[in-house]
Amino acid sequence: MSKIQDALRKIQSVKTAPVEVVAIEPADDSASIGQVVDERDATGIRIKPTDGGLVMVNREMLRDAGYLAPMEQERHLAEQYRMLKRPLLNNASGRGLEMGEEANLIMVTSALPGDGKTFNCINLALSMAVEKDVSVLLVDADVAKPHVSQLFGIEQQPGLTDLLKDKGRDVDSVVLRTDIPGLRILSAGCHDEHATELLASRRMEKVLGVLSKAYSDRIVIFDSPPILATSESHVLANQMGQIVMVVCAARTPQKAVLDALDFLDESKPINLIFNQSASRLGAGEYGSDQYGYGSRSTGE
Ligand SMILES: Nc1ncnc2c1ncn2[C@@H]1O[C@H](COP(=O)(O)OP(=O)(O)O)[C@@H](O)[C@H]1O
Ligand SMILES: [Mg+2]
Repeated sequence: MSKIQDALRKIQSVKTAPVEVVAIEPADDSASIGQVVDERDATGIRIKPTDGGLVMVNREMLRDAGYLAPMEQERHLAEQYRMLKRPLLNNASGRGLEMGEEANLIMVTSALPGDGKTFNCINLALSMAVEKDVSVLLVDADVAKPHVSQLFGIEQQPGLTDLLKDKGRDVDSVVLRTDIPGLRILSAGCHDEHATELLASRRMEKVLGVLSKAYSDRIVIFDSPPILATSESHVLANQMGQIVMVVCAARTPQKAVLDALDFLDESKPINLIFNQSASRLGAGEYGSDQYGYGSRSTGE
C-alpha cells in the first residue's frame, strides 16, 4: 500500500483549489467526431447490414473536443499510455498476475464525475489498438453520460442498453467496427430510465461472460460511471478483471479516492492514473510530473 499512500499524499499536496466536482455537459453536435458510414457496394446496396456500418475515427475532431493531446504533446502522452497499457496487457494475456478468464475486461472508473475517465479510456483504447496481435473493444458503459458514444457520433446506434433489454440480440449485432483495424466500439445504446438496473442485472453478467470468453483474444475497455455517484459501478467493478481508477490530480479529494477504493475488491489489480484533468486544454497540461501511475495489486 505504500506506493498508493505516497501517491495519495502527492494528490493532497498538489491540490491547490477547493474540491470541485466537474459536471460534464453532454458534448454538443459540433463536438461529434465520429461518423458512421454504411458499407455499400457499387450499387449502393448495404454489404454488411448487421455490422451497422463503419465508424470513422477523426483524430482532429477528437483533439478539438479535448480528448486527444495537442499535436506537440502527442508523443509525450503516447509514452505515458505505453507504460500504462503494458501491465494491463500482460495481465490479460496471462503473462502478468495470475488471474481468471475475465482478465481481459478492464474497467476505467473514478471516484467522481469529471476526473478524466472518458479521456483515459479513449487514449488507452487507441494506444492498445496499435499493438500487433491486440484488438480492443471500447464499451460505453457510462449510460447516464454516454460521452464516448457522443464523441464518436454513435449515440443513435443500438448498444449496451439494447443488448441488455433484448435477450434475442447477440453481441456481434451491436459491436461497431471502426476504420482502425484493431478497434471496435459498443455504444451505450438508447436512453433507458432503468439503465442502472440493467447494468446491475443478471443479463449484464451474461453479456460480460460472453465478452470475456468468446472474445478472449480481445481487450474490452469499459468507460464506466463514477464509483461514488452511482451504485451500478460497484456491480460492474465486481465483474471486471482489472480496474483502472482515474484520479484527477488537481481536483479529486483524497478522501473520495480512499472511499472509492473501499468499494473495490482488493483482490483485483487496481491501477491508478493520476490525471491532470482540465476543463480547457492548454500547454503543459499533459506534463509527466502531473501524470503518474501506481498499482495496488503489486503491493509495491
Ligand atoms: N489528461 C488530461 N489532459 C487534459 N484534459 C483532460 C485530461 N483528462 C481529462 N481532460 C478534460 O477534462 C474534462 C473531463 O474529462 P472526462 O474524461 O470527460 O471526465 P469523466 O469521463 O471522468 O467525466 C474534459 O473536458 C477532458 O477533455
Ligand atoms: Mg465520461
